Amino acid sequence: MYRTNTCGELRISDAGKKTTLAGWVQRIRKMGGMTFVDLRDRYGITQLVFNSETDSDLFEAANKLGREFVIQITGTVEERSNKNPHLPTGDIEIIVSELNVLNKSDVPPFTIEDETDGGDDLRMKYRYLDLRRPAVRKNLELRHRMAFEIRRYLDGKGFLEVETPVLIKSTPEGARDFVVPSRMNPGQFYALPQSPQTFKQLLMVSGFDRYFQIVKCFRDEDLRADRQPEFTQIDCEMSFVEQEDVLQMFEGLVKHIFKYVKDIDFTEPFPRMTWADAMRLYGSDKPDTRFGMQFVELKDLTEGSGFSVVDEAPYVGAIVAPGCAGYTRKQLDKLTDFVKRPQIGAKGMMWVKYEEDGSIKSSVGKFFSDEKIMTWLERGNAKPGDLMLILSGETMKTRKQLNELRLEMGNQLGLRDPNKFSCLWVVDFPLFEWDDETQRYYAMHHPFTSPNPEDIDLLDSDTGAVRATAYDMVVNGNELGGGSIRIHDSQLQDKMFHLLGLSEEEARYKFGFLMNAFKYGAPPHGGLAFGFDRFVSILAGLDSIRDVIAFPKNNAGRDMMIDAPSEIDDSQLDELCIRVDLDEKK
Ligand code: AMO
Repeated sequence: MYRTNTCGELRISDAGKKTTLAGWVQRIRKMGGMTFVDLRDRYGITQLVFNSETDSDLFEAANKLGREFVIQITGTVEERSNKNPHLPTGDIEIIVSELNVLNKSDVPPFTIEDETDGGDDLRMKYRYLDLRRPAVRKNLELRHRMAFEIRRYLDGKGFLEVETPVLIKSTPEGARDFVVPSRMNPGQFYALPQSPQTFKQLLMVSGFDRYFQIVKCFRDEDLRADRQPEFTQIDCEMSFVEQEDVLQMFEGLVKHIFKYVKDIDFTEPFPRMTWADAMRLYGSDKPDTRFGMQFVELKDLTEGSGFSVVDEAPYVGAIVAPGCAGYTRKQLDKLTDFVKRPQIGAKGMMWVKYEEDGSIKSSVGKFFSDEKIMTWLERGNAKPGDLMLILSGETMKTRKQLNELRLEMGNQLGLRDPNKFSCLWVVDFPLFEWDDETQRYYAMHHPFTSPNPEDIDLLDSDTGAVRATAYDMVVNGNELGGGSIRIHDSQLQDKMFHLLGLSEEEARYKFGFLMNAFKYGAPPHGGLAFGFDRFVSILAGLDSIRDVIAFPKNNAGRDMMIDAPSEIDDSQLDELCIRVDLDEKK
């Protein structure tokens, strides 16, 4: 037997017992005739004691140990004189009588501690060592517990987990596909699924009624903290449902998981906000509602001053930062630089300080009287001591810039507490999104999303105004999940493809299988998918989903540890009838 106990198990009640433990050497402290070793495994840390007076050979052997050696020891559990209240095993130590080195270790490239000295790249290269750190391991333990509980919950509601294929034909989620060449079908390619969207709809046609799958999805898109090229969804679909049924069901799941993981009770229904309101009040379809600072529209109150920055802009909007009238010139300049960053793109920022004594100081005093500015402050419910920040320009662009500014102010004021959770349904998304570059409409969600029945008449006359039966679940400013009620009528689906600029031929080529299936009695259906990595990272209070993925990719889409992607042999390329021409790419 390699061990009788784990390193997280022994307590004062075990004093006097003989035990055998196995694990990794976390730390060695040599103190004269005594050497202390912290032995670590997945379950915890136990202190080992080697005493030169009781066994000098053993003491010598202990002094030759190095960090991350794998050892097995046998010894006696004893009460510690110098207890460590921070460790569950901190009341005891093991007086070692036998030591067996199971494996030596090179000096690890960074310290295997919660606060490590290893940078991101190094830790990714040696991810297997990074995963030894308790802080990282805890995230994966949480991930496991959540996956387990989600399965249990959905099983209890009658959902069946069905696996869908990974080598498929392009899916319509709007990102680029990863493709896989087929050796047996030269010149042809599979696509990896951006989601199992079409398959879950087919399962509804098959009568499965309630489907879910915790499933890998693949999207070749630019990466960010909350995006990975391969990520995991909790993908769900239900038959004979309306939007309300879907929202109720999955609000139930989210609440259950919050209770299970964080012991948080959401007793009230999650608020719902239309997409139009979210854009108007927060400039984002995923507003962080942990704090207020909703937008105040000022266009009508700024008219006619002769100040071109506002006169020529279709939109003038502001936020009121509470208690920030004391911001210095330097702080305001920094905020201006922030909104002028190329990623945000504002041309400048106006500000108004509503001083504690009721007076007004502003960057636009030359153009507006104090009385005029007071009407802005009143509209924004500003109080003495508050700071108003104003942006102007093209409506949607400026709202998005103001959203960034609002989030930045939220950060500066500590209003984005990771231990506070604010959930929200955003509903009534537009069905289409216009793209100036290609001069055509795209599906805002995907082409199977049903239009809002009230707007069907507008499909031809006012296409851009048609609302979708689509919804997103937003938590703390993150899009946790999204879905829709689907089109189950093949004629309406044809029309949708047509509006999206797909010829009949193209639609048949891409989605003929689904269109055919719809001819054989498709039930009304709808569903959604949650980003599982995002769900875990939000509940773990982390900024990046990388920290909840065992072997993630970096921002360039590389796995630093296995060094992928990589070139393949000419013989493999020949077999696949593929020629690589990097010069052409340049
Ligand atoms: P959608 O594209 O909105 O919907 O994706 C659902 C959820 O998946 C997560 N997500 C991601 N997580 C990490 N990295 C990524 N690259 C990434 N992309 C998306 C988000 C998102 O809310 N088939 C539809 C669902 C449906 O209609 O039922 C779909 O995939 O949390």
